Amino acid sequence: MTETEEIRKGLAGVVVDYTAVSKVNPESNSLLYRGYPVQELAAQKSFEEVALLLWNGELPTEAELQEFVTFERSNRALDENVKAAIDLLPKNCHPMDVGRTAVSVMGANHPKAEDSSPEAELEKAKHLFAKFPAVVAYDQRRRRDQDVVEPREDLDYSQNFLWMTFGEEAAPEVVDAFRVSMVLYAEHSFNASTFTARVITSTLSDLHSAVTGAIGALKGPLHGGANEAVMHTFHEIGIRKEESREEAAARAKAWMEDALAQKKKVMGFGHRVYKNGDSRVPTMKAALDKMIEYYGRSEMLGLYDGLEQAMGEAKNIKPNLDYPAGPTYHLMGFDTEMFTPIFIAARITGWTAHIREQRAANALIRPLSAYNGPEERHLS
Ligand code: SDX
Repeated sequence: MTETEEIRKGLAGVVVDYTAVSKVNPESNSLLYRGYPVQELAAQKSFEEVALLLWNGELPTEAELQEFVTFERSNRALDENVKAAIDLLPKNCHPMDVGRTAVSVMGANHPKAEDSSPEAELEKAKHLFAKFPAVVAYDQRRRRDQDVVEPREDLDYSQNFLWMTFGEEAAPEVVDAFRVSMVLYAEHSFNASTFTARVITSTLSDLHSAVTGAIGALKGPLHGGANEAVMHTFHEIGIRKEESREEAAARAKAWMEDALAQKKKVMGFGHRVYKNGDSRVPTMKAALDKMIEYYGRSEMLGLYDGLEQAMGEAKNIKPNLDYPAGPTYHLMGFDTEMFTPIFIAARITGWTAHIREQRAANALIRPLSAYNGPEERHLS
């Protein structure tokens, strides 16, 4: 390494390419999808509309939306060999392994698997968008020894996701909180999993390989796996339904003080890019508040506030999106391990938008390394 070369561990602060998909601005604490503030989209748009915005760069016309909705509703069912592949996996493996395997099989099934034209890539993206919720629902139900619930074409994306998972129609409040989470999770520039997808795409590999690799990156608790890890923290502290908000907050604060004294990293807090709080948290927290009210679970708010307050006082580190998302999915009835697969369903939109962008102006992603191993030596 020459003296002028600088290693940026974790590529921190390194700008590696342009993107027109989204803009994360830590100074103004804002996130724009194709120019639109994510909060406005979460308040006013369906997840289906947001997906089209991310892929096409513009919100759909009524006709474009209807065409996509028809496609999405008629492509939700899983192929038999995807179900068979899932059934071959142990019920106690991590559901992210199931998601990763299912996408890989879907790639092998797709007639245009090796076609990387923009049209074929878009069709494959829409296909994954339509089918992935059934993977999550199928896996959640098989872990509970419940029968499969087939998709319903009269329900929208979020309604149908919850229907296939729980076998009953969710209340409008619950559907809306779920939709908000999907919109917020959809896209976030060059995060680790999206970058993984772009690296794989840059070798001219296929879209399903890129998404499969992205799922591997998302699984880790420093990235998407944090929403699940947040819930493990809540369980470790102990969720006591009968407890008051204040009592729960006091126990959570004590837990956090102890964890920080032991120099533990507490999942759901901190962010590589945002240092003054994640732009998506207030919107997701509002959705969580509605769920807490809907299910009458104020003790959950106590745990939430207690941890946040203690972390703020001790280290001034703010929650990220995974912090309010975890308890929201818990209240809806998902098993903790299913939270990150839900994140996959949302982020398929962002990943595939980036895959198409990478494809359109590709350069092989192949950085350099500075060697720090043994000096040259020879076999005698
Ligand atoms: C996501 O990038 C994206 O866009 C990702 C994402 C998306 O939408 O795709 O937003 C989704 O992945 C959110 C992040 C989910 N991960 C977690 O919640 C895991 C817990 N958080 C961290 O480990 C951490 O904050 C990271 C990984 C998110 C960011 O880490 P950095 O930028 O590498 O920072 P760092 O680990 O070097 O921390 C800097 C300092 C350290 O203290 P010092 O050693 O300088 O004293 O802050 C401390 C850290 O110890 N710190 C924490 C902490 N996060 C940072 N201390 C305790 N708990 C934490 N959570």
